[in-house]
Amino acid sequence: MPELAILTGSPAFTHPLHVGRPNIANQERFLERTGQILDRNWLTNNGPLVQEFEQRIAAILAVKHCICVCNATIGLEIAIRAAGLKGEVIVPSYTFVATAHALQWQEITPVFADIDPATHTLDPTRIERHITPRTTAILGTHVWGRPCPVESLVEIAQRRGLKLMFDAAPAFGCSHRGRMIGGFGLAEVFSFHATKFLNSFEGGAITTNDDELAAKIRLMTNFGFSGYDNVIYIGTNGKMTEVSAAMGLTNLEGIEDLVAVNRRNYEAYRACLTGIPGVALMLYDIAERGNYQYVVVEVNEAAAGLTRDELVKVLHAENVLARKYFWPGCHRMEPYRSLYPYAGMFLPETERVAARVIVLPTGQTITVEIVSTICGIIRAAFAQSAAVRAALSQRT
Ligand SMILES: Cc1ncc(COP(=O)(O)O)c(C=O)c1O
Repeated sequence: MPELAILTGSPAFTHPLHVGRPNIANQERFLERTGQILDRNWLTNNGPLVQEFEQRIAAILAVKHCICVCNATIGLEIAIRAAGLKGEVIVPSYTFVATAHALQWQEITPVFADIDPATHTLDPTRIERHITPRTTAILGTHVWGRPCPVESLVEIAQRRGLKLMFDAAPAFGCSHRGRMIGGFGLAEVFSFHATKFLNSFEGGAITTNDDELAAKIRLMTNFGFSGYDNVIYIGTNGKMTEVSAAMGLTNLEGIEDLVAVNRRNYEAYRACLTGIPGVALMLYDIAERGNYQYVVVEVNEAAAGLTRDELVKVLHAENVLARKYFWPGCHRMEPYRSLYPYAGMFLPETERVAARVIVLPTGQTITVEIVSTICGIIRAAFAQSAAVRAALSQRT
């Protein structure tokens, strides 16, 4: 059993192990593309690399249209506006705050609905109670890259006359019933932020099979310009730069290797965590394509002898910078906490899951040996929970 740093002061790892450390597929290839950008002197405004990136994404996801954007938050704002969402929109609270902000920013009310504790995505049985005459849409998030219950959401949306869109920020490379995420609902929005499975420093993409919507989104992403000097629509600046596309294209060439690494680490965590009471690893459906970008664990205090927050402190002392996610839930963040102080009454599963989840490091720099050490720390912390609690209480 490893000695715990919380007791000895000596961490297992000399360097911090981060969650969401950027993965870079091929530095040389990226620099080569960057040189070409500089030679062409075409840095942004729908350059050739952005066009190539869009075509490749559309082909991989089997969607008609892909519009790259500077980040997913702006992408969500544009897609929401282009699709005509207004009034109230039903969203999960268990998501990154950008999902809610993209609505509130446009004075659309995010109405938080609860999640299914087994999947962490919107629970279709808890949506209809929130529908009012002002509701115009449902906006689901494919949390951890695991798909929302798409068919049930489509059924509710159709029956109640609502639009349906997806925040697919973490879900690049994932499938649902054999179809790649990207073509569901009216539109889906991916993030290519540095921490994401596919990264372009900052960046994102809106995908849709709707020709009219795609045309609107393209205009809105570029101030509404339709050719030189001709603005035909309200718009913003959501453009992706060429250097982002160079990074995105380079990383796209490496996604199969990255999935293999993430999958290997996930399997190693699965094997090493088995039999430790009080931790449950969130499982991926092996019948689907997944990016395995998130190693998600729920901590059950009653069985573990430690709370999730105590375990996070133990891991941080070892230089394992595990993260709470999506703690404390959007409804407990501003401005939502003040605007909708009673939202939590309808979100018991969100509150329970948000209090129990941690995400552990994975990606290119994490080896099976590192995974084994991290799991050994968790096992040791639970086995010595009383001593750990005493040491933690001395610290605060
Ligand atoms: C679910 C979700 N939505 C939206 C975003 C925002 O993405 P971006 O950082 O590209 O704006 C993120 C990023 O972390 C996310 O996880």
